[in-house]
Amino acid sequence: MSDFLDAYSIQTWLESCPQGYLEGTDYGHAPDEREPGSMLENELLLEQAIQSTVQLVVGERCALAASSGLINLAPDQASKRFLATQTLDEARHVEIFTRRLHDLGVSKADLESTIERYANPHLVKFAEVLLEKLDKGDFVAGVVGQNIVLEGMAFSVFEMMKASNEATNPKFAHTLAGTIADERRHVGFGENRIGSLIKQYPERKSDVEKMQKDMSYHMLATFSRAFSENTAAMAEGQRLAAESGAGRSEWHGTDLSKATPKEMEAVLADTVLKEFKVRLDRIGLEYQTPAQP
Ligand SMILES: [Fe+2]
Ligand SMILES: [Fe+2]
Repeated sequence: MSDFLDAYSIQTWLESCPQGYLEGTDYGHAPDEREPGSMLENELLLEQAIQSTVQLVVGERCALAASSGLINLAPDQASKRFLATQTLDEARHVEIFTRRLHDLGVSKADLESTIERYANPHLVKFAEVLLEKLDKGDFVAGVVGQNIVLEGMAFSVFEMMKASNEATNPKFAHTLAGTIADERRHVGFGENRIGSLIKQYPERKSDVEKMQKDMSYHMLATFSRAFSENTAAMAEGQRLAAESGAGRSEWHGTDLSKATPKEMEAVLADTVLKEFKVRLDRIGLEYQTPAQP
């Protein structure tokens, strides 16, 4: 327990995060970095950037609601303190992605209507399954749903977005780098804390496994809609990146600078589901295959 206390303490968080990789950043990126003009001036690309950033805000608002709700449900003090740091991380994620929407030209007055207009309905469903567990006061399901499923998904989505923005949009890639470091910590906590709880409450397994299956279904439906909706913008983004001389952007064996939306969807779904399996196995849960949406 003492390693756990050290690794997930507020002291460690302060040193590694605000005084570490976030030091000197402005809303997660270097103060002089801006969204590229070639994207801001291209209607198709701008709309796609707004649309995909809305999904990040929706996901992070869910993580903020879930992590803050988990503080009072946590059975031990060390978990409460870690979840307090996570709550601030998630609030920051909501803030930096909201800030990006403003950088993309969404006014403060139009923020909520823009989010409502573009939010992927499957992602909204995904969040509802998790927040329902929180409403019922279910800590075990809440941690698995948030720190394994939601954050496992976020982690891979951020990594993929970072890989495809690295050459063309360093500002956004740097914003994502900080959130990836945060999500890595959150997923680590989930695995470390929940393994012992599952052993303690084996009767909770089937219920938690069913939630994972439901959430995974809505996640795959989210990906399917996101990639099929944006075919034209993705091709346009690849065309502009090639024109600007950006080379390959390899992610899990797929060159994102050339891949079709179908190929991108496949590598993302495959990566996330593989990681779910590994993580669930480590905490003593059996991965349940969702239906194909
Ligand atoms: Fe987050
Ligand atoms: Fe997180």
